[in-house]
Parts: sequence; structure tokens; C-alpha cells
Amino acid sequence: MSDLIFEPLQLGDLTLANRIVMAPMTRSRATAQADLPTAEMVEYYRQRANAGLIVTEGTHPSRAGKGYCRTPGIHTEAQIAGWRKVTDAVHAEGGRIVIQLMHVGRVSARLNKETDADTVAPSAIRARTKLFTDQAGMADTETPRALGTDEIAGVIGEYAHAARCATAAGFDGVELHCTSGYLPSQFLHSGSNQRTDGYGGSAKNRVRFIVETLQAMSAAIGSGRVGYRIAPGNPFNDIQDDNPVETYSTLLDATAGLGLSYIHIIHMPQLGVDAQALARPRFPHNLIINESFTLEKARAVLASGEADAVSFGRAYIGNPDLAHRFRKGLPLADFDPNTLYSPGPQGYSDYPVAS
Ligand SMILES: Cc1cc2nc3c(=O)[nH]c(=O)nc-3n(C[C@H](O)[C@H](O)[C@H](O)COP(=O)(O)O)c2cc1C
Repeated sequence: MSDLIFEPLQLGDLTLANRIVMAPMTRSRATAQADLPTAEMVEYYRQRANAGLIVTEGTHPSRAGKGYCRTPGIHTEAQIAGWRKVTDAVHAEGGRIVIQLMHVGRVSARLNKETDADTVAPSAIRARTKLFTDQAGMADTETPRALGTDEIAGVIGEYAHAARCATAAGFDGVELHCTSGYLPSQFLHSGSNQRTDGYGGSAKNRVRFIVETLQAMSAAIGSGRVGYRIAPGNPFNDIQDDNPVETYSTLLDATAGLGLSYIHIIHMPQLGVDAQALARPRFPHNLIINESFTLEKARAVLASGEADAVSFGRAYIGNPDLAHRFRKGLPLADFDPNTLYSPGPQGYSDYPVAS
């Protein structure tokens, strides 16, 4: 079996030492006020710099973009300074790191955001889900305010600002979070987007928000440092679409010529869309696939040419030295599900490396 997984890879402007990507994972270790990266986060990401590329946890590009508790932002000077410590630590270990920009849109609990921060979405339709809050446990989401057509350029501008902040903080690039029912996904899918202007209705109109956001981020920091993530068919956070194959084919066609660094796909063909098959001919040199991989399966996907890189999420929680363990054939450790989102270093930055 090929060992392509340990070979370097050029991904747009990024040069990766290997093809193992740490998938983005929200871990809720930022400060409760001001949404700042913490010392634990510096240590956590430093420990995982053995990945060819780290994609950070979802990070909000604006105050309105926050919906969960203790998630970090990337839109203020203090947040830039906090993230600079993370990127310096990862680079000192020889790693590469991009930040995932996550605007939650309607997936937001009031208690988790500043009292005067807005909750906006393409349409005023509440997401039927609940979110954890530190103050009151599980809480309902809010009914969002539908964005006016003349407001959309401003929201896209917030993403471009966040991309510039990311560069100032030393990140190697940005990943636009277009999955899991957050704002770009709300524009994309017919169930959450019932607009009658140029951002709603046809698939061509519904992909427009994502395309314009990718273009704005590319203009800000260069398209070779911009990627995006999708998970076609995933109903998470109350997402529904009348024709997902058409929607995603339209999105892939509209983004194929943008010169992006990469596209990151959570592959769930059992949910009705084989996104990997749709994307491969359109993105011949920059496809990252996530599919609850074992090492063997990841190697097979790389060897067959179906993907350029493979991402691992949960395996990186309890195995900070995952790439090293893969290389040496060492056993993998489990992780504690009770400390996934709890504050502090326990079950976060205290998992041991293999000896
Ligand atoms: C604790 C946790 C937090 C996650 N947070 C994010 C996130 O912020 N952004 C995102 O795109 N995916 C997120 N995911 C999904 C993972 O990136 C990944 O797609 C998923 O865990 C499946 O891959 P795996 O089987 O290798 O873990 C999260 C997953 C877990 C387990």
C-alpha cells in the first residue's frame, strides 16, 4: 500500500509536510468574555502541529456570528494578538494552520452572545434545535432577522475583514465553514432560504452568498490561501434542500474557477450526494476528504487518487501526536466525551504523546 499520506503536498499557496489534516473541532476553551484564545489553546494546537495542516475550530468573524459559548473570534485586535501566540507555536514546530471562519447565522442562543449583538439569517425561520449555554443549560435558538438585500455586502465584508485579521495573526489561510447549518449553509439550502431577491430561489441565486464571500476573502488575502468546507446531505441544525445534487453541482461549478487553495468535503454519500465524485473532476489538485477514516482507509483513498489529503477529527482529540503514531504503527488512544466542551486543560491539552 502506498505511503503517500506522509508525502508533502502543495495545496494552493500552502506547502504541507504530509497529507494528514486535523479537521476543525469546536472545543469551547476560549475566554467567556471577549472571545479570546487562551494559553490552553496555544498548547493544544502546538501539540498537534505534526499534522500537515491544522484547521482550527469554527471562529466567528463578527459579534453576530457567535452562537455557542466560549468560542473564539477573529475580528478584534485582542483576538489577533491571542491567535498570534497559537500560530507562532504551530509554526515553531514546523506545522501549518488555517482558521475556520464560522458565522452561525440563526444557530444562536441569546445567552451565548453579547446582549446587543444581532441574530441574522437569509430568512426569518427559526432553526429547530437547542444549544448549550453556561448560564441555563440547553436553550432554544432565536428566530433570526432576515437580512435586507442591502445588508448582505456588509456581512460579506465582515468575512473579508476576518480574513485580513487572520493574516495579521499569522495564519497560513482561511477555511469558509459552509456546512452544519450555519450562515453560508442557510443561504445555500432551499429550506432555510426563502428569499425572493438575487440571493434566493434558484440554485444559482442560493450559491451566490458563498461565491461572493469566497471572492471577497480571496481579494483580501489571495485565493491560494482560501478554502471552503461542505457536507452535502447533512441535515444537522435543521437543514433541508429540495434538490441537493443540483444545489451542490451548482456550487462546485461556480467555485471551480476561483483559484482556491482547497475544498474540504465531509463525505456522506449515504445521505444522497456523492460530493467526492462531483468535486474530483472540478478540483483536480486540491481536495481534502473527511470520512471517519482509519489509517488504512485514508491510505487507500489517497492511493486511488480520489483525494489529495485526508482529515481526521476525533482521532486528534486523544492523540495529539497522531501523525507520529500513524508513522510508527502505534495504537490510538480514546478520548473522554465528557470534556469535549468543558473549560480548562482537562481532556483537552493534557492527553499524553506516545512514548
Ligand atoms: C467535538 C467536535 C467538534 C466539531 N466542531 C466542528 C467545527 O467547529 N467545524 C466543523 O466544520 N466541523 C466540526 N466537527 C466535525 C469534524 O471536523 C469532523 O468532520 C467529524 O468529527 C468527522 O470526522 P472524524 O470521524 O475524523 O472525527 C466537530 C466534531 C467534533 C467531534
